[in-house]
Amino acid sequence: MSSSLTEAVVARLCTVGAVPKEQDLYSGAGTDFYDRLVGPDRAEIREMLALARDTEGPILDLAAGTGRLTVPLVRSGKRVTAIDLSDDMLARLRRALPEHAMLECVVADMRDFSLPQQFGLVIIGATSITLLDRVARSLLYANVRRHLAPHGVFAFTLAGDASAQTFSVSTDREIEVPGPDGAETYLFSQQVEEDGAARVVNWVRAADLTEGGEVTVLTSRLRVLDRAELSRELVEAGFSVPAISPVRTLGGEDIVLLTTTCAGHSEERDADASR
Ligand SMILES: C[S@@+](CC[C@H](N)C(=O)[O-])C[C@H]1O[C@@H](n2cnc3c(N)ncnc32)[C@H](O)[C@@H]1O
Repeated sequence: MSSSLTEAVVARLCTVGAVPKEQDLYSGAGTDFYDRLVGPDRAEIREMLALARDTEGPILDLAAGTGRLTVPLVRSGKRVTAIDLSDDMLARLRRALPEHAMLECVVADMRDFSLPQQFGLVIIGATSITLLDRVARSLLYANVRRHLAPHGVFAFTLAGDASAQTFSVSTDREIEVPGPDGAETYLFSQQVEEDGAARVVNWVRAADLTEGGEVTVLTSRLRVLDRAELSRELVEAGFSVPAISPVRTLGGEDIVLLTTTCAGHSEERDADASR
């Protein structure tokens, strides 16, 4: 059976006689940690705003989380529907833009959702497509197609080849995470599984590693995917071959943006442009 805990974290807790308390990264105490870890990251915002500028009609932000991308899109004047599986994550988004007329938050699964309208742009940021396995991605693609307006654009991010290499090795190290009272040290543990097709990631606050205590271990499980595989899947699912462009990142992380439309619509758009 697959575990949410890495062997390294289990061993580390064992050495101090501590008991793990598993906590999904995207609910409960995980949401605060996620916001501290990723919230200040401005990566992808510029690219998504550029796509939004060329979009007519509303935008759908899938796996929107605490609104790292949603908030700037709404502030740019766009009407956005934000979907996320976690009400805890969306609660933070709602707090950031209370009662905003241009924002709708929907607790739903990106594998299975049904909204009354279609969207000019559907996005998935923060490489969150890697939260889904192959079957789940097929369901996602079918749902995106149903919700995409004619000529609408589907765009999502993925780790580029250089970053993806770091996902192929199990690793354990200390990281500094910003907090209200200054940075805190966390153990970051990544365990590669399924012959490199998946990775389990854990974070543990170093200060919590006390003798015999209960220690919260934040967990996530991700697929390791590359652009060629996803391009093939998109075409199989009825999308056109995606355009792939680099995302500008401050820390130099290698992230790419895949942009596609329903097959047939990109050719029509090219023909319209040449008339
Ligand atoms: C990495 S965060 C991304 C948040 C935000 N888009 C960003 O750029 O920071 C991933 C989000 O996906 C959500 N999530 C995970 N599985 C999901 C699913 N099947 N359907 C919808 N949301 C999901 C999690 O709750 C979490 O908020």
